[in-house]
Amino acid sequence: MISQETIQQILSKIDIVDIVGGFVKLKKRGTNYLGLCPFHNEKSPSFTVSPVKEIYKCFGCGRSGNSISFLMEHEKYSYVETLRWLANKYNIEIEETEASPEQKVQQQVAESLFIINNFAQKYFSDIIFNNEEGQDVGLSYLKERGFREDIIKKFQIGYCLEQRDAFSKAALSNQYNPEYLQKSGLAVMRDEKLVDNYRGRIIFPVHNQTGKIIGFGARIIKTNDRAPKYINTPENELYVKSKILYGSYFARQAIDKSDECLLVEGYTDVVSLHQAGIENVVASGGTSLTIDQLRLIKKYTSNLTIIYDGDSAGVKAALRGLDMALEEGLNVKLVLIPDKEDPDSYVNKIGAVAFREFVASNKKDFILFQLEVSLKEAGSDSTKKASVVNQVAETIAKMNKVEDFTKQQDYIQQCSEMLGIDEAGLHTLVNKFIREKISKEESKASQKNGENKDTSSQQPANATDLSDETFNILFQDELQERAVVRVLLTYGIKQWDDHKTIADYIFEDEMDEEMFKNKKVAEVLKIYKDKYEEGQKLSVSDFAYSEDNEIVKLVIESTNHPYEVSHRWNDEDRAHSINHSIWDLKYEDFKSKVLYNENSRNEIYSYNTDDNYKDDVDGVLIYLKLKKIKRLILLNEEDLKKASSTMDEIKHYQEVHMHLKQMQIELAKRKGTILYPF
Ligand code: GTP
Ligand code: MN
Repeated sequence: MISQETIQQILSKIDIVDIVGGFVKLKKRGTNYLGLCPFHNEKSPSFTVSPVKEIYKCFGCGRSGNSISFLMEHEKYSYVETLRWLANKYNIEIEETEASPEQKVQQQVAESLFIINNFAQKYFSDIIFNNEEGQDVGLSYLKERGFREDIIKKFQIGYCLEQRDAFSKAALSNQYNPEYLQKSGLAVMRDEKLVDNYRGRIIFPVHNQTGKIIGFGARIIKTNDRAPKYINTPENELYVKSKILYGSYFARQAIDKSDECLLVEGYTDVVSLHQAGIENVVASGGTSLTIDQLRLIKKYTSNLTIIYDGDSAGVKAALRGLDMALEEGLNVKLVLIPDKEDPDSYVNKIGAVAFREFVASNKKDFILFQLEVSLKEAGSDSTKKASVVNQVAETIAKMNKVEDFTKQQDYIQQCSEMLGIDEAGLHTLVNKFIREKISKEESKASQKNGENKDTSSQQPANATDLSDETFNILFQDELQERAVVRVLLTYGIKQWDDHKTIADYIFEDEMDEEMFKNKKVAEVLKIYKDKYEEGQKLSVSDFAYSEDNEIVKLVIESTNHPYEVSHRWNDEDRAHSINHSIWDLKYEDFKSKVLYNENSRNEIYSYNTDDNYKDDVDGVLIYLKLKKIKRLILLNEEDLKKASSTMDEIKHYQEVHMHLKQMQIELAKRKGTILYPF
């Protein structure tokens, strides 16, 4: 803790013109100073600094504050970091209060490591530019790869000689402590002598947020199967891998300005993109992102764009961090670099302009990407698919922040479309995960308060536990389609009202075969309809002798109580599994998870009575109508796209759209009040 005296001392020295002037070019205008605002892009200056009031204010974007808030905002320092920065600037010695002895030791070690790292960086840079081996091996390697000198200098890249202990000797003769030299990872002990750890390697210094060197990445030059490609600083008081994003010091302002952070895998990717003028870029080192790294990014922007090569293990690693990123409120996009290239090689190949364009036009939404990948992996396995549904619902549930509400709705819509399932169903499942999350958090909180010490009873929500609910959602279309067959064959000839039968009512609007995912359902309806128009009234038994075995099964399954079905089916029948169109679902899965679950049985009982058949039919028809409306909305959207852009025409399509949406909402409401008869 910095003492109050020190803080007062710092505050008394602050000169806002001096501090802001260090970052913004200021011109005197009367009693004030004027410059281009560093917080937004502008051509004529509206950023004003008042030395009298000791504040700044931008009349363009409205940001204002004092010296301390300027540093916190512009440099992304914490309050304490700002004070330290100011103390350093004004040569004020910081008086610490209440630092524990351990903290003091830690601070001392950290300070010593900073000093050693600083020395090492200067030493390695000197070698690469001024030493013969440094130039011939190190510098020429970098130049061959296309790195310019100015960028090598900016990133303070160096080279470590191949000799056994050239660096260690130099460090020791400069009185550096052997123990700290080992702690820094720059040297290691061999036969009681210090030797260099990064021999014959290119040295990439790793900077913290304030530009101080916390460690190094050392890349091998000669190909050697036994040596690792990179050696990194071991974890120590300064180098905490989980908190490091390589390049963040050089990227922070560009990230702030562009409101986007690009994430790549390697050191060379960062340096190359910088050289190409793309500066809002940091590297993760190829491992999955940690919460600390995500929070570091979130300090600057909410938009994270991951740029990886398509077949890298890094993509998988990054996917694992996705849920965490969502919880932090980040919008994650993914750009896959084509075939065997990485951002470094690709930007060198196609140039800066093309690379920018490539990134801009190849951003994939990360959630949808994950869904696409998992769906591909699941193939036609319905259990796996159900677990994909669960997974995606859980992921979307992680977005449970007020600010993300609209985003969440959009994802539910897009994902349900990709999965071919009912949007409302996915909604329900997402809500279930949100509830589980909340109750988990609550129980965690109460455990903390010592209210509940028994942890054995708490079962964590698990996306791989498949509930009947998930299966119901997954197969809802199938179930509803079968229900159409059921009501038609069971009540087709009964009256809907004084004028028409149920069958009339069902066939009233032209029914598009495309509406049905299960083509056999469409076929049964078509057969019924054709015969109906000829004056025949088909019943279940007419289909029971159909030559098409699949139709027989479909009709029997759809119209019978599940237990009766189970008696009728023998194993041989089951072996001819039905060709269900949605997921190629396995009959076994379908049957055990859906047809025979407790709820469906009860609901079938309650609906198969004679007097409430209209409710039953109505519930089924709402489903059909919703489908039809959905299709009409899509057609209308297509027409709108194709429409010549006269206002009248556009207005017409928009009105149609609003009308359809309204119908959809009203039907969906009714659907909510009607129990599904399955
Ligand atoms: P170049 O091949 O020189 O372009 O380097 P690169 O940065 O592209 O390397 P690569 O794509 O192979 O790996 C990406 C990142 O993973 C590197 O920048 C390192 O941070 C890390 N990495 C790669 N290989 C190793 C290794 O052998 N050890 C460790 N610790 N990290 C590695
Ligand atoms: Mn590379």
